Amino acid sequence: MSERTDEPSGKRFLYVVVCAAGIAAGVSELIAAAQERDWEVGVIATPVALGGFFDTAAVETQTNHPVRSAWRAPGDPRPFPPPDAVVVAPATFNTVNKWAAGAADTLALATLCETYGMGVPVAVLPCVSATLAAHPAYQESLARLRGMGVRFGEPFSGEPREDGGRPGFGWERALDLLDAFREQPAAGRNSL
Ligand SMILES: Cc1cc2nc3c(=O)[nH]c(=O)nc-3n(C[C@H](O)[C@H](O)[C@H](O)COP(=O)(O)O)c2cc1C
Repeated sequence: MSERTDEPSGKRFLYVVVCAAGIAAGVSELIAAAQERDWEVGVIATPVALGGFFDTAAVETQTNHPVRSAWRAPGDPRPFPPPDAVVVAPATFNTVNKWAAGAADTLALATLCETYGMGVPVAVLPCVSATLAAHPAYQESLARLRGMGVRFGEPFSGEPREDGGRPGFGWERALDLLDAFREQPAAGRNSL
């Protein structure tokens, strides 16, 4: 990518955490919608997502920031400012379960684990098949994260409908969930 400006824009900064689901290829739609709503966006990808699930070069051009996936070196400056809000889209079965369990072995997971202590609003759009979503650990993870103030979009499996068509992911649902934090803030935490 070229001509990146790291000057603060004064806009609210949104972290978009991208996991390794096939639907991730469409994440530019979410970024464009967020920018339309006046967010500055920085993308953090899981290491698997970085390996071909979306066009990282296009996202870097679109956001004007590097796509992060690994930790910075100790002496390096922080590439992103602290987040005003975080979206996880798409969220995988794997990442939801590891986040709920408190695993922090990737930058994406460590960032998500920190959001609770930071008290920032977090909206999640899972993309998880019905067969995986039936696992009790997943249901427990959702309950635990909801109890922490995280807000989830409707379940989305990515599977074809009965008529053979594929449902749209509805990326903007994530931004609507963030707006709902403003309208109905959680007591004492997660306010925008
Ligand atoms: C083409 C492809 C599509 C995938 N789609 C999904 C998906 O929609 N949801 C999901 O939970 N896992 C999906 N997976 C599996 C995840 O990539 C895998 O569990 C991975 O370990 C998730 O890593 P992450 O959570 O760190 O991103 C897919 C894998 C492949 C190869």
